[in-house]
Amino acid sequence: MGASPDTKTFLAIETSCDETAVAIIDVRGTTITVRTHLVFSQASLHATFGGVFPNLAKREHAKALPPLLTSALTEAQLATNTPPPKELPQKIQELLIKDTVLSETLIPFIQNTNIPSIDGIAVTYGPGLEPALWVGLNTARALAYAWNVPLYPMNHMEGHIAAALLSETAQNETATHHSYTLTDPPVPALAILLSGGHTEFDLIRRIGDYERIGETQDDAVGEAYDKVARLLGLPYPGGPLLAQKAQEARTRRIQSPIKLPRPMVTSGNLHTSFSGLKTAVRYAVEKITPLTDQDTIGIAREFEDAVTEVLIRKTHAAIEATGVESLILGGGVVANEHLRTAFGRLAQEHGIPLLAPHPALATDNALMIATALAARHIHGCTIAKDPFDTTLKACGTLRLA
Ligand code: KG4
Ligand code: ZN
Repeated sequence: MGASPDTKTFLAIETSCDETAVAIIDVRGTTITVRTHLVFSQASLHATFGGVFPNLAKREHAKALPPLLTSALTEAQLATNTPPPKELPQKIQELLIKDTVLSETLIPFIQNTNIPSIDGIAVTYGPGLEPALWVGLNTARALAYAWNVPLYPMNHMEGHIAAALLSETAQNETATHHSYTLTDPPVPALAILLSGGHTEFDLIRRIGDYERIGETQDDAVGEAYDKVARLLGLPYPGGPLLAQKAQEARTRRIQSPIKLPRPMVTSGNLHTSFSGLKTAVRYAVEKITPLTDQDTIGIAREFEDAVTEVLIRKTHAAIEATGVESLILGGGVVANEHLRTAFGRLAQEHGIPLLAPHPALATDNALMIATALAARHIHGCTIAKDPFDTTLKACGTLRLA
């Protein structure tokens, strides 16, 4: 069943890295009700190679996305009696012609799915792995055209910010339809975005108005976590496992056999660098033989302490320089408890609120993309695009603007 007239129902698609994700939400006032929120992770596939291969990710997204859309629509109970177009529109055929894997899954999906009652489609078009992004974007373009609904290309990092704005309401309407209130963060706000591909500080003047004021000059924090985890013999993606080891070291009071640098803490700007940490860990691992289990978890702790100290000192400087009224955490790395606690303390010292996503919504998902569209809808700044606008392209290096 569809929603009432003052409710908007949005479908969102996310394929920027190695998670294929679909979500459908209802937005009514500032209440967001999740009809469905599905994430299909390819991580175990990429684990064999120790990292994400863009073209493999692309193929897996193409295979997984249409079946995931079918499950999402069923779970969201949005089926109507409006049949799909009898003939697949020529424009969609042309759009999909170059991607045989996606054509094989998406064309039957369009031809066999009644037109759902939704009010728009949000899709991540960057930043991320371009081949992977194209799968989501082309799927969303085809569906927006076939179903005649607006298409909203969204920035992945804006999605990570939006995930922090979801605060759970006390009463959930049903067990499956989870409800949240969208928080209006005090602005200007500082977003600290820490993921596998990005580490950046962004000034948020209001929803839809962002300025990057600091970024990593080499590895992203999540990338550093994953690379150091690999050096310590942990499987991909090693970030969460490395964090567990660091926590174990704290609990067991195990010290590190080495001291790591705190790169760029005195650089006088808001930029960061994390590749030196990885190199320092590599030297240590080569030098210390045998490397005991205690050494490994001690190094994990020292690495996490170094990362935390750098990020907290940079954020402190950013707060002083900008006078922001709130802090917003986003990105897979902010699932990290140690970091969250440190940021909580920092926000408290400055007397400003800290908004952080539920740890389960910190890593890539489509609910955050749907929520980013909801936030824009509430603030009256949505940007719809014609599905066949020739300027609409997946952009691996897309910036928040
Ligand atoms: O945002 P995300 O899901 O994907 C990107 O857009 O990159 O972030 C994934 C990154 C990976 O590097 C992963 O190791 C890291 O987030 N990560 C963590 C934790 N959970 C995920 N890093 C440290 N501690 C964690 N608990
Ligand atoms: Zn991400």
